[in-house]
Amino acid sequence: MKKDFLWGAALSNVQAEGGYLEDGKGLNVYDTLVVTPEKGIVPMFCDTKVATDHYHHYKEDIDLMAEMGFKAYRFSVVWSRIHPQGDDEVPNQKGLDYYEDMVDYLLEKGIEPVVSLVHFDMPDHLLRKYNGFLNKQVIDFYAKHVEAVVSRLQGKVKYWLTYNEINLAPYQSDLVAGAYRPDDMSLAELFAHLSVNTAIAHARAVEVIKRIDAKAWIGGMIGHAPFYPLTCRSEDIIAADFKNKMHNYLPFDIMTSGQLPEYFINFVEKRNIDILFNEDEKQVVKDASEKLDYLAFSYYRSGVQSSFDDIEDLIELEDAILFDQRGLKNPHYTANEWGWQIDAEGLRYSLIDLYDRYHKPLFIVENGIGIDEKLVDGKVYDDERISYYQKHITSLKRAVEHDGVDLLGYLAWSPIDFLSSHKEIRKRYGFVYINRDFDDLLDLKRYPKKSFYWYQKVIKSDGEDLENNIDY
Ligand code: BG6
Repeated sequence: MKKDFLWGAALSNVQAEGGYLEDGKGLNVYDTLVVTPEKGIVPMFCDTKVATDHYHHYKEDIDLMAEMGFKAYRFSVVWSRIHPQGDDEVPNQKGLDYYEDMVDYLLEKGIEPVVSLVHFDMPDHLLRKYNGFLNKQVIDFYAKHVEAVVSRLQGKVKYWLTYNEINLAPYQSDLVAGAYRPDDMSLAELFAHLSVNTAIAHARAVEVIKRIDAKAWIGGMIGHAPFYPLTCRSEDIIAADFKNKMHNYLPFDIMTSGQLPEYFINFVEKRNIDILFNEDEKQVVKDASEKLDYLAFSYYRSGVQSSFDDIEDLIELEDAILFDQRGLKNPHYTANEWGWQIDAEGLRYSLIDLYDRYHKPLFIVENGIGIDEKLVDGKVYDDERISYYQKHITSLKRAVEHDGVDLLGYLAWSPIDFLSSHKEIRKRYGFVYINRDFDDLLDLKRYPKKSFYWYQKVIKSDGEDLENNIDY
């Protein structure tokens, strides 16, 4: 691996911080989200008031990251800490101070900060009053937020991510885009409008960042789950191809080409959807494509797609594929308790595929496994996590060393435990266990898991030593 390869991990601050309404923070969509449990999961949701109290423990948590030897750490600036309502005239200085302190501390420890500008943290007021990114005014508020954050952190932060998992905005519109689907809007219309509006938001962020700091490195980011055809029937291959374009490639296609791809224009025209995309916006999107430095993605799992033999109408068929709720499973892979199938070589496939398609440096900014874990005598033997990482790191090394993919770094998910996107503490991802339960906050003490020492060794050996031979 390259000597400057960015080994580290990533966190979504809104899921870890707590610090509920402290220091001027406003409510955000994650705080107010009404959670729909993942398939087959008994609801056990925590509120977000304390989460894993990263707000008050961030230095201790960064010390642990430094002990693991992180070269880079990705975190998110919680939007509602900076603009509590979203449409505020001036940013909250205490919020900016907090993240500047965090960046300073990271730099002091020799860790490169990678900063996400929106990660499930849109001010709730922007959802209630404007309906989030379905409303173009919210794009202006977002650009203003980006301006405040980048102005404060410029020169200290090199790597920026404009929008966490931008491609998921149409699927979890409340959490990812702060928007509810109006009763008279079809799923396809929601998909089309949010795809365009979030692409504009991304482009506006690129414009702001490069204007303030020409040396900054900017990445677009998607939640990547490649869809394989369930069988080798041509119907299933066409279905998977359509799903991949719409679900995975669309945002990167727009970000890199600076225009809407033909397959998307065809999608909206066939459905008579009137998308609002004026000449100025087209220009902003075009200009941003020339300034984009890298492409980032999360990878947890792959998916499978098949066609629907009983649907003849092609538009109906495409919509069924795009919004498929059948929960199809790949017969070749096992899954964690939440049904997320483990496909390590799918990471290599994703890297090859995205690099071939875009020829831009890639950055893995999330990869990990959620496990229900218990602390016993101060220890957590998470060999299952180690095994997951061993396989995924082997796979990315093949992509880099054998297939020639240009990869900037690998950020595991996650340094510490936090609440899942469904507000579960039971689904833990950290290298560090945080002692709290579903309904009892206990003492919130930090305990390095076995994987902590394993990952330390991986980073020290630059990815060479993956063996699970830790004396814990
Ligand atoms: C990604 C998000 O979708 O997956 C994270 O960027 C999230 O915020 C992660 O935590 C894992 O998903 P979940 O639902 O298990 O928390």
